Amino acid sequence: RLTPQNRAKYAAARGALNYVEKDMKLGLGTGSTAEWFVRLLAPHAEQQNLNLTCTSTSERTADLAAHLGLRVVTLDEAGWLDLTIDGADEVDPDLNLIKGGGAAHLREKIVATASDRMVVITDDSKLVGKLGKFPLPVEVIPFGWSATRSLIEEVLEESDVAGTRVEIRMNGEMPVQTDEGNLVLDLHLEAINAPEELSLMLNRIPGVVENGLFLGMADEVSLGLTDGTAQAVV
Ligand code: A5P
Repeated sequence: RLTPQNRAKYAAARGALNYVEKDMKLGLGTGSTAEWFVRLLAPHAEQQNLNLTCTSTSERTADLAAHLGLRVVTLDEAGWLDLTIDGADEVDPDLNLIKGGGAAHLREKIVATASDRMVVITDDSKLVGKLGKFPLPVEVIPFGWSATRSLIEEVLEESDVAGTRVEIRMNGEMPVQTDEGNLVLDLHLEAINAPEELSLMLNRIPGVVENGLFLGMADEVSLGLTDGTAQAVV
């Protein structure tokens, strides 16, 4: 039996099948909602003979999609994408997002940026008035990462945010490593009042690869509700 949140995630994923058309080049996201989508997409594509070409935002989604029979190629092989379907950790009223709870936001941002459209699949617990309660993930190069952290802390002191704590993401005793072999710092900001400015300031630090703010990138949200229905939010 599905929990109410999983029912909502499933509904969001199912709703997103409506956006998929024949011969599309698709970007596949990462996370539990994106996994629901891939599980629904594979049989749907086969039944409807959709002839899709997929590229993935993480090794784990790529493995799942290929295992389920979808054609998975690299982004370079795919070239430009028609559509990316991905989850989110927070969605604000302007459809700005925080992503990276699954440590995949770098590839997710590259794939979404290389797509004509991005549709977010999420349950209503991710909707927020303002971004920032969910810790903002920042992917950093391992070399000199503690110096990079100090520079991030300096940026936060000067930024319009409500908190400044920075933590390296761990998996037990070991730091989490991204698919690119980098580290993730989680920024506990509570409220981000000027996301554009913060994103630019963070990405200007040499050791920072990319932050988890997706600003002006999502075109639409397939929002799943706990009653098992989904609605489109534009
Ligand atoms: C992965 O890095 C994230 O950006 C995910 O898209 C996000 O964490 C959503 O995950 P769930 O669908 O599991 O909530």
